[in-house]
Amino acid sequence: MTAVFEPWNETRGGEIIAEHANQEGATLVILHALQEAFGHVPQAAIPMVAQALNLSRAEVHGVFTFYHDFRHEPAGRHVLKLCRAEACQAAGGDALAARAEAKLGVSLGNTTPDDRVTLESIYCLGLCATAPSAMLDGRLIGRLDQRRLDALVAEAQR
Ligand code: FES
Repeated sequence: MTAVFEPWNETRGGEIIAEHANQEGATLVILHALQEAFGHVPQAAIPMVAQALNLSRAEVHGVFTFYHDFRHEPAGRHVLKLCRAEACQAAGGDALAARAEAKLGVSLGNTTPDDRVTLESIYCLGLCATAPSAMLDGRLIGRLDQRRLDALVAEAQR
């Protein structure tokens, strides 16, 4: 992933929030806009969004957690998402996820200490088959097995 993000800045965050506050579905629109600008939605932005939209922090946090694409911390250089939805789990996804966690030394939802790889869950990539699916920096990969997963992890670590 080569996207360059602005560092979090409260004034800039406030501008983004104000810009979208009157739109339909403003919570989701704002969270997306913040993540697009900063690469993540800092914890500090949640009360700002709540205040601007006259919602509780819990309501904004609820939207944040419902969508698995939002993150509170900046992502690593590469983002490896493993499908954790039912069909992929039934096809051996749990074992592959555990393997990826062991290889990278981080659990799902975290970034390696060298900031190279963020390992995340995703819920169905529309590639449901007899083997689990994944996505590396937006590229879909189907029919994963141990060998292909290892290659993917190695690619992400480069
Ligand atoms: S359940 Fe994993 S791609 Fe559909």
